[in-house]
Amino acid sequence: MLARQSTAGSEVDIARPYNRHPMTASPTAYITTPIYYVNDRPHIGHAYTTTLCDVWARAMRFAGRDVFFLTGTDEHGVKVEKSARERGIEPQALADENAAEFERVLEVFGLTNDDFIRTTQPRHVRQVQTFVTRLLEADAVYLGEFEGWYDEGQEEYVTENRARETDYKSPISGRPLVKATERNYYFRLSAFQERLEAFFAENPGFVRPEARRNEVLGRLRDGLQDVPITRTNFSWGIPFPGDEQHVIYVWIDALMNYATALGLADEGGDAGGRHRYWPADLHVIGKEILWFHAVIWPAVLMALELPLPKCVYAHSFWISEGQKMSKSLGNFIDLPTIERYMETYGLDAWRWYMVVQGPLGATDADFQAAGFHETYTTDLVNTVGNCASRTTAMIGKYFDGVVPADAGTTFEGWDLPAAAATAFERWTAAMETFALDDACEAAIGLLRTVDAFINATEPFKVAKDESRRDELASILARCAEAVRIASMLLSPVLPAKMHELREAMSIEIDVANGGLAEQVAWSDRLAGSTVAKVALFPRVDAPTA
Ligand code: MSP
Repeated sequence: MLARQSTAGSEVDIARPYNRHPMTASPTAYITTPIYYVNDRPHIGHAYTTTLCDVWARAMRFAGRDVFFLTGTDEHGVKVEKSARERGIEPQALADENAAEFERVLEVFGLTNDDFIRTTQPRHVRQVQTFVTRLLEADAVYLGEFEGWYDEGQEEYVTENRARETDYKSPISGRPLVKATERNYYFRLSAFQERLEAFFAENPGFVRPEARRNEVLGRLRDGLQDVPITRTNFSWGIPFPGDEQHVIYVWIDALMNYATALGLADEGGDAGGRHRYWPADLHVIGKEILWFHAVIWPAVLMALELPLPKCVYAHSFWISEGQKMSKSLGNFIDLPTIERYMETYGLDAWRWYMVVQGPLGATDADFQAAGFHETYTTDLVNTVGNCASRTTAMIGKYFDGVVPADAGTTFEGWDLPAAAATAFERWTAAMETFALDDACEAAIGLLRTVDAFINATEPFKVAKDESRRDELASILARCAEAVRIASMLLSPVLPAKMHELREAMSIEIDVANGGLAEQVAWSDRLAGSTVAKVALFPRVDAPTA
């Protein structure tokens, strides 16, 4: 533990040691969402992953890193071709329509992605062909014939062992697997078995959370087979270079988006200096697409002799009111439903619920209207809102709205500067491992301490005794400082509300532009500044069933 003083205005620089923390060790930070299929319309699943990435991207910008946050749409493949045909339109028209809808989500949610890649864009198509040509030249791809079990819904072959385990049915859709024979181009995945095993052994944090890593390792032990990377039974895809009867398998095309957005395959070009972001720090995905990201993608990158991403984070799934989401059950959390929640509770409340109650770990999470309301009321109204309004209201009442200087009173058993430093330490460690829920808990925990401090020191009673002015000043100066620091730690998840709070407390900082370490250092910077009373989160009536 660091040595700290309990008086504000101390010389102790609690921020400095954190500058050596690995979070700030790399100047860049690259985070990606999966690119979303355009044959579906956006729903909670897509909004969830993108929101998680947004929180982390904001935190890293505040921490002073040069962030690149990528999302986009996956527009090729048989599913898109089929959906378009069913509607009697061209695949590109369907892609345009739904990609626009995905872009609208980003706007509605105020998400701060730096780019939006679409796999039908020329920049992507061109580079995928370059990458595939390089794979051919490196002899990592060959023309061959294959017979195997195919999962049509997932557009994926499964091994004989896996097929037997699931009784020759898709583990995802439950539909029977089909025996398929194809003459195709294959990627020599089997040649990477040892290298992948060594990579996993040397990088225990590569797949998170731990349970997902174990899953991958288990499957890896089954042994790897070469995988077809082209298709001939449909045409909606990127033509295979040099053999245009084949189109490139949608998954190879899609995975490469993470590299093409940075212009990694563009000869001589550097897409506006984006090469510096590679390798990605985090590919955030849902658990159903882990194999592609944790095994196939690294093997492709090894074949291309490109550095591997630092972490693939696979979260679990939202279900809704106890059941798998389905349109017919009426429990589907689609965009209009989300917008209704945002109208009632506000955008930041939506983000908070996503992050603290979502399926970040190895188990699925249940979206419940009642649970949403309870989380809002407990965390945001009664803790964050209440603590900020109590503190600002008392400064208004007892000090005419001007933050007093800390008079140095000692309160036995209370050390708010230490609590703030511990919260920051925990927050930083949590951000390192993408434990965003824990980062939120660290920040809100500090506010709970402030609340308890107010209850224990009873400033409203102290205020009645003129001879205890110093004590009153010490209490409220410390509360204000702790609220200020908590608001910094909460700003990535509650950007709008924390902006409002900063304005009320006359704090000027551009949280998208570094300065975090300095901002979370305990100080007397608020002494003398004006604060206005704030009501951040209004009470909302409980939903009727
Ligand atoms: N196009 C592929 C990904 C290619 S990435 C190189 C794909 N797209 S998808 O549209 O089906 O989106 C899948 C992603 O949406 C999941 O990985 C997950 O991030 C998110 N979710 C979809 N449904 C979900 C839930 N019910 N709950 C949480 N997230 C889920 O797969």
